[in-house]
Amino acid sequence: MRYLITSALPYINGIKHLGNLVGSMLPADVYARFLRQEGETVLFICGTDEHGTPAELAALEEGLDVADYCQQQYERQAEIYKRFGLSFDYFGRTSSQENHELTQHFYQCLDENGFIKEQEISQMYSLEDERFLPDRYIIGTCPNCGYQSARGDQCENCTSVLNPTDLIQPRSTISESNNLEVRQSKHLFLELNLLSNKVESWVEEHPDWSSLTKSIAKKWLNEGLQKRCITRDLSWGIPVPRPGFESKVFYVWFDAPIGYLAMTKAWSDRAEERNWLDWWHELEDVQYVQFMAKDNLPFHTIMFPAMTLGTRKPWKLADQIKGFNWLNYYGGKFSTSSKRGVFLDQALDILPSDCWRYTLLAISPESSDSSFTWEQLQTKINKDLADKLGNLINRILKFAASRFDSKIPMGGVPGEAEQQLEAQCKKLMDTICQCLHSLEFRKATNALCALWTIGNQYIDEQAPWKLFKENPEQAAMVIRTSINLIRIYAIASYPFIPSTAQQIFDTLHLSESERTSSFGSAVDFSILQPNRSFDVPAPLFQKLDDEQVARLKSRFGGE
Ligand code: 2FM
Ligand code: ZN
Repeated sequence: MRYLITSALPYINGIKHLGNLVGSMLPADVYARFLRQEGETVLFICGTDEHGTPAELAALEEGLDVADYCQQQYERQAEIYKRFGLSFDYFGRTSSQENHELTQHFYQCLDENGFIKEQEISQMYSLEDERFLPDRYIIGTCPNCGYQSARGDQCENCTSVLNPTDLIQPRSTISESNNLEVRQSKHLFLELNLLSNKVESWVEEHPDWSSLTKSIAKKWLNEGLQKRCITRDLSWGIPVPRPGFESKVFYVWFDAPIGYLAMTKAWSDRAEERNWLDWWHELEDVQYVQFMAKDNLPFHTIMFPAMTLGTRKPWKLADQIKGFNWLNYYGGKFSTSSKRGVFLDQALDILPSDCWRYTLLAISPESSDSSFTWEQLQTKINKDLADKLGNLINRILKFAASRFDSKIPMGGVPGEAEQQLEAQCKKLMDTICQCLHSLEFRKATNALCALWTIGNQYIDEQAPWKLFKENPEQAAMVIRTSINLIRIYAIASYPFIPSTAQQIFDTLHLSESERTSSFGSAVDFSILQPNRSFDVPAPLFQKLDDEQVARLKSRFGGE
């Protein structure tokens, strides 16, 4: 089996926050790293989602041409993800030439097959802004409750669903101008209604999806699919190859998922031996797994598959769709637009990436929404990473360096305690492995922590520092066992906290082949034999003290 892994494509405008990371890219990375470590062939694709009004407006605000703005933001985002250790095989862009071509190709196939319909609609045009305004960029007074800042799609005060034309005294949120008029404009619609049966049978073929994924797909199907507008009156986007549509582009959600294919093509064009169709043409030996937050589920369970099936070409559809709930910030929402929460560039200025990776995975919003708090981050770093992992490694290697001349010591015979340790390790490694195969990241992270706990219990019970005086041979065996355990820890931790794992590998002077092992064969206490050298690392994690937590809370706002 080969694994194609995609993470939802982050919007280009602005640095993403912790919620975006934990809801798609981070778990996708853990999965990709885990599978590679298991010896599987993996292709992990992501990139920026660059079209749409928000990107245009953000560029305008910065006084940049939108293409230049996107180039700049693409580089910034790519750099940040690298620093978080996200191991994409390719990080592309939806504005690429490949995506232009493929999106137009998808459209042409859909049109040939009779799934595209032309229809005239009325839309608000702002004379001041010289553009058609998407519904949410128009505000005015709600006809139902009188709330003065109701949006053109919905009144957030009384929750009634609105049309921009329902608003009293509508105005543009961009310029505040009320110089608006209704204009007629021709648009293209994807006839999802005609594709409904096909999508439904495809959904039915996947009883193994999580209940979150299934329930969202079924809800949409049960409500009945409606035709959906796939064009917009904008200049930034992918042109619509159809007479009369010269001033229009495809809707951002039409071209974005096609970006997964286009990015694979871009990846493949960069080396002779790669062939992107080996990944995207309906292939039995490719398992395609998608990662995303729950708001993206309708597009990936309904809209994108409908577009794909409607082409009647043999494109690969997702085998597994992993959706995440929301990560909140002290119970409220993280929000890019209102700048609430912690953004990824800020996060990296505060702490090393592995502290974030571990904490986020441990509180991952899998079965329900979860909350990020600074206190929780503190607990995860201090109790799990620093005490259970970092401190254990330091204690053992320091002792081994001072008592055994910086060499793995010889002598002693493993006994019952070591047998028990081995059995416990095997069981937990098996749990982590199974959880990762079934995409349960929070459980997997808990099992990893349990694995660190049993090592602490072992070393506390054996107390080699005491034993050394009475029975140095046995103490040598305990230390040798513990150093082998550290290697197992590094292998188990690698998908979750890769840079720490590398540090441990380096500390233990492991060869390339000793660094990679499947979970199934990692538990072997005889790999690191007597007389091998190692280094004593500097503390692997710095603790967060109460004062720092208080400062972070006041800087970012908590509670
Ligand atoms: O919700 C979002 O952040 C979108 N940019 C996700 C797009 S995923 C894919 F379809 F491109
Ligand atoms: Zn209202």
